[in-house]
Amino acid sequence: MIPRIYIPGDSGALALGAEKVAKAIASELAERGIEAKIVRNGSRGAYFLEPMVEVATANGRVAYGPVKPSDVKSLFDGGFLTGGHHKRWLGAPDKIPFLAKQTRLTFARCGVTDPLSLESYKKHGGLNGLTNALGLTPAAIVAQVTESGLRGRGGAGFPTGIKWKTVLDTSGDRKYIVCNADEGDSGTFADRMIMEGDPFVLIEGMTIAGIATGATKGFVYVRSEYPHAVAVMNKAVEIARKAGVLGASVLGSAYAFDMEIRVGAGAYVCGEETALLDSLEGKRGMVRAKPPLPAHKGLFGKPTVINNVISLASVPVIMDKGATFYKDFGMGRSRGTIPIQIAGNVKYAGLFEAAFGMTLGEIVDEIGGGTATGRPVKAVQVGGPLGAYFPRALFDTPFDYEAFAAKDGLIGHAGIVVFDDTADMLKQARFAMEFCAIESCGKCTPCRIGSTRGVETIDRIAAGIEPEKNLALVTDLCNTMKFGSLCALGGFTPYPVMSSITHFPDDFKPAPVRVAAE
Ligand SMILES: Cc1cc2nc3c(=O)[nH]c(=O)nc-3n(C[C@H](O)[C@H](O)[C@H](O)COP(=O)(O)O)c2cc1C
Ligand code: SF4
Repeated sequence: MIPRIYIPGDSGALALGAEKVAKAIASELAERGIEAKIVRNGSRGAYFLEPMVEVATANGRVAYGPVKPSDVKSLFDGGFLTGGHHKRWLGAPDKIPFLAKQTRLTFARCGVTDPLSLESYKKHGGLNGLTNALGLTPAAIVAQVTESGLRGRGGAGFPTGIKWKTVLDTSGDRKYIVCNADEGDSGTFADRMIMEGDPFVLIEGMTIAGIATGATKGFVYVRSEYPHAVAVMNKAVEIARKAGVLGASVLGSAYAFDMEIRVGAGAYVCGEETALLDSLEGKRGMVRAKPPLPAHKGLFGKPTVINNVISLASVPVIMDKGATFYKDFGMGRSRGTIPIQIAGNVKYAGLFEAAFGMTLGEIVDEIGGGTATGRPVKAVQVGGPLGAYFPRALFDTPFDYEAFAAKDGLIGHAGIVVFDDTADMLKQARFAMEFCAIESCGKCTPCRIGSTRGVETIDRIAAGIEPEKNLALVTDLCNTMKFGSLCALGGFTPYPVMSSITHFPDDFKPAPVRVAAE
């Protein structure tokens, strides 16, 4: 049997040197006259071990990492093609604690299969969900998705089945499925990992969404900063079309569905669903007032499902294993699994898919291993730039939509960014207002003007100018933004600002006092 070597082509792994490692392995193979197949897989998400190289042995896969080009000669000398020992030896990948503790449903194939092999996809359960869906009526598919409890993973946590039902029940000569792959939240990379590591699962999920709602065309709106994901998705769509997964007759059925990949131009607000639609239509991305909902009047005025990558990529496993199977994971109204993206100043950064319900403390301290600097954790921002900063005192909060909302926070796209005790929370609050000012689409006053006034007011607090009066002004301003903004960019910026003020009041003391306290 020809040895098989897996070297991630995932852009996170590439950023850590995977391409150089791949070249070193290829030239070592040539020099030694060894015939081997190199598979450029996705990442399993343990980024602290990337580039993680795996070999398929008679006893299963064996991983090595993080591999440097300078390790390659000694890896061959140590017999790594048959799983030989080496200082980078990690053993069976699914026994690596960070991976072994996960519940991989949506990411089951990511890092395991060849992303562009439909055969490999099918061998690992791919297309089972679509095949099952084709045997059901659209209403029955929607009922399954509703029953599974799946909620939108893009940020708002809206029930996916209810959104689909609205589109199914709305008549239109054309309907669309739009996949939101703008992934603008800080510290998030789940959408990118799936698109690069298991693109067919997104294609399958979108196709099921099309069949369920009567849409025949889909668009994936990908941020321009993801060139690798764009390339992989384009190739995967072509392969799926040739194989009859997409096209006039999906898997030989009476249903038609096709899709295209579109690239954004780098505005955070274009991740907001209505601004995204404007951008997709070729206009400047501006938020639309609702109603009408996109489900009634979306892309080009037609009924449209807009879902995040992870929402759509979670549908195939639901349709394969059943709504009850999926629903059995999780807690409360947060059902199934969620890919938590652990980033920032953290020892073990990466993607951790788990059922809802782990506490924030377990995620940061046990899974993430605390800070990379070894200093105490001061704050964790959950849910992107619009998410609240959680202090250690709130580490018992379970990862659950309602539990986070009850603590004035949000899960968002499940990105968590860890900060150590050197973080200045006044600067973080200022950054939130500044980010909002830069990214505001300008449509409504509380966001457009309020964010700039917010930066100025926080600067006055930092300078020790009437701190109490200005803190009260920031609080008042946050209330205006929260209740008066048209979308969540202006409406949620108060979360990082107010959580910083509430949980870290010492950081907002006038400058001389702050310096004296340090
Ligand atoms: C400013 C702003 C940025 C957003 N960015 C994203 C994004 O990058 N990706 C995403 O899926 N949803 C984003 N959302 C949420 C979308 O508006 C929308 O709720 C989501 O695409 C719906 O899909 P879901 O129900 O599957 O989560 C953003 C919302 C706002 C207000
Ligand atoms: S809150 Fe900001 S981004 Fe949203 S519509 Fe208003 S101005 Fe635009």
